[in-house]
Amino acid sequence: MTDYIQAAKEQFGKLLEEQLKRVEIMKQQGNFINYKELSKIVIGVCGGDGIGPAITSQAQRVLEYLLADDIKSGKIQFKVIDGLTIERRAAEDAAIPPAVLEELKECHVILKGPTTTPRKGDPWPNVESANVAMRKELDLFANVRPVRIPEQGIDWTFYRENTEGAYAVGSKGFHVTEDLGVDFTVVTSQGTERIIRAAFDFAKTNGKTRVTAVTKANIIKTTDGKFLDMFREIAKEYPDITADDWYIDIMTAKLVDEKRRKDFQVLVLPNLYGDILTDEAAEFQGGVGTAGSANIGKRYAMFEAIHGSAPRMVDEGRDIYADPCSVIRAGAMLLAHIGYTAESEKLYKALDICTITEKKLVITGRNTGATSAEFADYLMSTIEKL
Ligand code: IPM
Ligand code: MG
Repeated sequence: MTDYIQAAKEQFGKLLEEQLKRVEIMKQQGNFINYKELSKIVIGVCGGDGIGPAITSQAQRVLEYLLADDIKSGKIQFKVIDGLTIERRAAEDAAIPPAVLEELKECHVILKGPTTTPRKGDPWPNVESANVAMRKELDLFANVRPVRIPEQGIDWTFYRENTEGAYAVGSKGFHVTEDLGVDFTVVTSQGTERIIRAAFDFAKTNGKTRVTAVTKANIIKTTDGKFLDMFREIAKEYPDITADDWYIDIMTAKLVDEKRRKDFQVLVLPNLYGDILTDEAAEFQGGVGTAGSANIGKRYAMFEAIHGSAPRMVDEGRDIYADPCSVIRAGAMLLAHIGYTAESEKLYKALDICTITEKKLVITGRNTGATSAEFADYLMSTIEKL
């Protein structure tokens, strides 16, 4: 056999070994952590790059204000984690420097600022995206992205599978010859079952009546086919919920269809389709800058803004004017996730007042508007009056 086919087989073999190991780990996994049973919840605050530290520290102030009593009693502890910067990741040639990963693992939940993903042509080595690495390392398999536009009757919750599909070995495809390259997409029974159950359980506990799977199972028959088959099987256990499925191409079109789109409620989908469709969905709400994102696993959970790190704002000395709303929104999701529902609702309400109805301060991203710290002060004084 030619050498290049032999070499490719060996590389492919290694990928399969890694993925089979992951299957074994998933088989051992127990239930979701119960925050109520913990004597202390550690909230990690990981600023990331660019404007990240500036906006994340403001979100931390707001959360500390809302959780003041429980911080005093020792029930809540904040832990600031520096070092998830592109400079340090480049220097250590690691998606997440090992010491930073250790610190992340000492937390229960993490509030994360944006991190830079190097592109071809950037001055950085091609390290893997810190987001993607964190999702894998902490096994944050459910990427939950809500999109709400009440005046249009839109209330969608996306359950994007977050550790498999095209992302599982996304940085490990290879060129077999100069002319032939291959990437791989991965599906497992364990990984598919847990995301589909998470979507149905969310629907059930939140009074939703419909869960929709989005795949391209007519073409990607093995991996998407399995996702869809398992969806149909698991749906039978939830007889009160309507389960239907769409292909990603027509779903992308239907989200623009004003008559039909209101009908979707919970959508569950493989990683790459989830990545794409949630950007489209967030655009109707005002853009990706307005959307928060929860990355949930059984042991850890991470909450983040889904916009970029805006290094230019830092270069121009404007990071103090960056808009902290999206990471504060991620903070509101974090509060709800660990059981502080009332505090979370207060925060959402205050955000609406400060950004829509009252709007006493405006953030422009420059010195023509408020600083992030001034906005956080405004938010806290608004909460005080609720
Ligand atoms: C997202 C982003 C990430 C992804 C990037 C930054 C790696 O687009 O969170 O949707 O592709 O998942
Ligand atoms: Mg994306």
